[in-house]
Amino acid sequence: MAVKTPLAIVAMALFPLLGYAENTTPPWVKSAIFYQIYPPSYQDSNGDGIGDIQGVIQRLDYIKSLGVNTLWFNPLFKSEFKDGGYDITDFYQVDPRYGSNSDLVQLIEEAHKRGLRICLDLVAGHTSDKSAWFQEASKGHDRRYSDYYIWPDRIPDDVKGKEKDQIGGVIGEDSFVKSTAPRASYYIKNYYDAQPALNYGYANPNPKNAWEQAVDAPGPMAVRRELENIMAFWMDKGIDGFRVDMASSIVKNDPDKKATIGVWQDISNWYHTHYPDAVLISEWSNPKESSSAGFNIDFMMHTGKYNFNSLFVNRVGGEFAPVVSYFAKDGKGELKTWYKLYSEQYNATKGNSLITLPTGNHDIQRLNAGDRDSVEQLKVAMTFFLTMPGAPFIYYGDEIGMRFQTGLWNKEGSQGKSTKNRAGARTPMQWDDSKNAGFSTTDYWNLYLPIDKNPQRPNVAKEEKDPRSLLNYTRNLLKLRASSSALSAEGDWELVSNINRPYPMVYLRSSGNERYLIALNPSDRPVSASINNLKINQATRVVGDEAQGTLSTQAAQPEVNVAPISALVFKLE
Ligand code: GLC
Ligand code: CA
Repeated sequence: MAVKTPLAIVAMALFPLLGYAENTTPPWVKSAIFYQIYPPSYQDSNGDGIGDIQGVIQRLDYIKSLGVNTLWFNPLFKSEFKDGGYDITDFYQVDPRYGSNSDLVQLIEEAHKRGLRICLDLVAGHTSDKSAWFQEASKGHDRRYSDYYIWPDRIPDDVKGKEKDQIGGVIGEDSFVKSTAPRASYYIKNYYDAQPALNYGYANPNPKNAWEQAVDAPGPMAVRRELENIMAFWMDKGIDGFRVDMASSIVKNDPDKKATIGVWQDISNWYHTHYPDAVLISEWSNPKESSSAGFNIDFMMHTGKYNFNSLFVNRVGGEFAPVVSYFAKDGKGELKTWYKLYSEQYNATKGNSLITLPTGNHDIQRLNAGDRDSVEQLKVAMTFFLTMPGAPFIYYGDEIGMRFQTGLWNKEGSQGKSTKNRAGARTPMQWDDSKNAGFSTTDYWNLYLPIDKNPQRPNVAKEEKDPRSLLNYTRNLLKLRASSSALSAEGDWELVSNINRPYPMVYLRSSGNERYLIALNPSDRPVSASINNLKINQATRVVGDEAQGTLSTQAAQPEVNVAPISALVFKLE
């Protein structure tokens, strides 16, 4: 996109709260396919059992071969690792366990050589309690970093007994952490006690609570500028954007998000003006709101009201609640819940920002979990993820069908109070049949997390050789997507099957004259759907074979029959 005109900037200043935001999404983002890497688990290059940057560099050719073009890394910065790296002590330094700042610059260069872009994780909302800023702030009210944090002297009565809403930024009694520091009796945290919240102010500060500052008070304004410094520091090293952690919660007690959107408009306006070719991705789970805040992509996955839980959360031995999901083989799921949430967001953000429905991430169970454990089931799910509009995100290992591991211990805060054990989604990448699946040369007990013990566990080397593997299936889908504007991020999407008869799910993607029909049946029984108002002259099968289903175009209403656990894609003329 072009640099903003002064007029656009004036418009943004005049209409900040009306949901107006200029479309700041650079063209490359519209064909971006993301691959998320959890750094300690991808590839260990020096035999200490922990993945590192040099390890990733060794694997760039593999990553390129998938057909993805953008990488997102969970935090690589100096950390105490009380929350898997989301408790940062120094935002300007790579943590030594991953390498050095020079290693990261080398990674950026090596990635760019291959046409791969790099996004980092921006933990905007909090630091580690061991960070120099927090240490300094704790000493008194007149230090450089004193007002980077929030320092209550008491817990107000109206907060007692109330539970905090982490993602929403609404303060509860459990947001107050007792402090012995000279500064004050308490500080406000976001997630763990070791993660003091940075002070972006309160939406409506209560004058009785002196610690509740306005969003434009000097402390909160200094924090905004510091965040921009961090962004500039890494942008100037050549990265292509950020995924912003818990972006929706930085302003406290702001349920309607007006103040939070306003603060982000200020920051994102600065960002898009200085880095017009960079992407800004939010963990917000409300694309309507995040797009007016200036984000280009938002997740719709497990958190908040706008989630995809009715599609994917699956039964897993006690670790995740047993719920009915659409992509489970018992075929008891429904589409209405998700359809309503998704289409509301899709219609509101179309042409402006992109929604992502990721295959997984470091906070939720993997796709291969519970009884969703066969290659064919995973192919059906993968077909969904890679034929929907928006920006696809593939979580490392999902392309080979790595299994969610149950029964693991709490690793670096993986077992949260409100979250289930996330360690199961963070185990080492499985490369080949050599020691530790090719992840590390260390001894078993030094590994960051254990490797799937199943002798049948999938790995890259095995799947490379098998034309019917999930890996090659994923590659083919990405090739197909890259070749088509209908299947791309901004191609139109329309559910054409009857919402009250959820299996199969049939949708149309189109752009100009180009049309694709996708039919998915995750259930273990054969199903069919007739489609109203769809004129088909000719249909060419591009995914799936005769045994997986048929599309008959002879009758007045086309009918699609889908075999158990099958996915079909047809190009329509
Ligand atoms: C985000 C991260 C999660 C982390 C939390 C607190 O939700 O994805 O891993 O624990 O923020 O920083
Ligand atoms: Ca290492």
